[in-house]
Amino acid sequence: MAELFNVYPLYDIEPVRAQGSYLWDTKGDRYLDLYGGHAVISVGHTHPRYVQALTDQLNRISFYSNSVRIPQQQELADKLGAMCGHPDFALFLCNSGAEANENALKLASFHNGRTQVVAFRKSFHGRTAGAVAATDNPAIVAPVNYNQHVTFLPYNDSAAALVGITDQTCAVIVEGIQGVGGIHVATDEFLQTLRRRCDETGAVLILDGVQCGYGRSGRFFSHQFSGIEPDLITTAKGMGNGFPIGGVLISPKFKASFGLLGTTFGGNHLACTAAIAVLDIMKDEGLLDNAVRMGDYLMNGIQQIGGYKELRGRGLMIGIEYDFPVEPLRKSLLVDHRMFTGVAGKHTIRLLPSLAIGVDEADLFLEALERCLNAERAEL
Ligand SMILES: Cc1ncc(COP(=O)(O)O)c(C=O)c1O
Repeated sequence: MAELFNVYPLYDIEPVRAQGSYLWDTKGDRYLDLYGGHAVISVGHTHPRYVQALTDQLNRISFYSNSVRIPQQQELADKLGAMCGHPDFALFLCNSGAEANENALKLASFHNGRTQVVAFRKSFHGRTAGAVAATDNPAIVAPVNYNQHVTFLPYNDSAAALVGITDQTCAVIVEGIQGVGGIHVATDEFLQTLRRRCDETGAVLILDGVQCGYGRSGRFFSHQFSGIEPDLITTAKGMGNGFPIGGVLISPKFKASFGLLGTTFGGNHLACTAAIAVLDIMKDEGLLDNAVRMGDYLMNGIQQIGGYKELRGRGLMIGIEYDFPVEPLRKSLLVDHRMFTGVAGKHTIRLLPSLAIGVDEADLFLEALERCLNAERAEL
């Protein structure tokens, strides 16, 4: 038997069906999804409008290359620009978050001709060459990716940013809320300092909205709390609710030319259809407001249960840090209560549910969390 290249530790669960915030496995057991497969499920699993739109499109045409007119791309650009508050930004479509960041870094370098990148400690920007070089995790950076041009500065440290960003800096790449790094929210003052310093030095400011974007924070992009306007914004994950799609939103100061960027699959009919359906559902069902409301609801519930060291996040991007390793807690939530959650590092539970999660689902989680923590305390 051929083997899969074994890079993923797996749970012994095989989901075969999903709907809304729930998954069912081969045994018919139901699981509550508070993680969305790494923040991907934005409007809920198998939303009927999403399924219908993709089915209809699949029956018409699923793919042709970027050498022909694909009107769904324009519809997506219009809807995304209007909804995210950057109608004057151009859209380049690709297939994943890493690819979005890779293209953003290239655009920055094409733009100012520089090579040095500033990124931040605990950052995660993806696994392609430039994106992984700007990721603060040496374990996933291969020697071939070693890019001497990346400097890592402390996150939320404006004084360090003022010194570390210079007129040699090509780009500053930053997550509005660090996801993999443990749900750390950038302060408004920090993002405003980055904007100011990039303006002073001619560096390009890239906001990586791959995990914290697309409504997850309660605003379309989390950096919008600070009022800054980045030069480039990257997106993926929730954009397609499971259909692979990524994008770079590009300020009008960047000029396009034929062949500057490109991709075979990016912006194909199916991917655009998925992303348009996501935006339509988000708008019609008020999912940004729901993210605020349900984020507050979950945060309040977690606060009442207590027992944590720090509670961080915004909207439906929540990190609960404990002063003990959380893997047994996560395992108990999964095995005893049939709930998917995520972790960041050893001590933080990471919640990234669908933006459409309801009170019933939140209550199920809060009850389970309290029971797990009580059981943990009883064992001590
Ligand atoms: C902030 C951020 N940027 C980029 C990526 C990479 O996205 P992808 O896995 O789609 O390449 C991730 C993935 O977790 C992410 O969290």
